[in-house]
Amino acid sequence: MPLLRFATLIDPEAVVARSAEIGEGTILMARATVAPQARVGRHVVIYTGAIIEHDSIVDDFASLAPGAVLGGGVKVGEASFIGLGAMVSHGVSIGCDTVVGMASGVTQDLPANVVAVGTPAHVIRTRSRGETFL
Ligand SMILES: CC(C)(COP(=O)(O)OP(=O)(O)OC[C@H]1O[C@@H](n2cnc3c(N)ncnc32)[C@H](O)[C@@H]1OP(=O)(O)O)[C@@H](O)C(=O)NCCC(=O)NCCS
Repeated sequence: MPLLRFATLIDPEAVVARSAEIGEGTILMARATVAPQARVGRHVVIYTGAIIEHDSIVDDFASLAPGAVLGGGVKVGEASFIGLGAMVSHGVSIGCDTVVGMASGVTQDLPANVVAVGTPAHVIRTRSRGETFL
């Protein structure tokens, strides 16, 4: 099996704290912000102006749409998607493969494999395996 290495692409206008960790193959667009002690996994995409506050964890293959904001100590599970301008309150944990709709406000933990919308965000359905979100 060949050893593949993936580029990590960070726009010069992105802001990454010195103590933050960014995984291989991850992309940070302009004005994306990753605050101190935050950990961003591999193959994550952080779109324009999205903010990952201190001590948050974003697992592999997850993505944050433009303007999405994670408060401090948030956990976003593998391959989950946080929609345009959505906000996730501090300390909230979101399971893997979950989609948070645009402009939603997540105030409580969300399970894996669901679509949640609104403020406070509520689950509207489960997701099927391999389902796309855009
Ligand atoms: C949540 C989302 C994935 C749609 O999921 P869906 O399962 O196809 O849901 P539907 O469009 O069928 O809507 C189901 C219900 O949720 C509501 N809804 C959908 N998205 C919503 C949102 N973001 N906030 C509040 N309500 C929403 C719909 O109005 C509908 O309500 P109703 O049953 O009372 O009519 C989509 O609306 C969304 O927000 N996508 C993210 C867009 C985005 O961030 N794009 C990034 C581009 S870079």
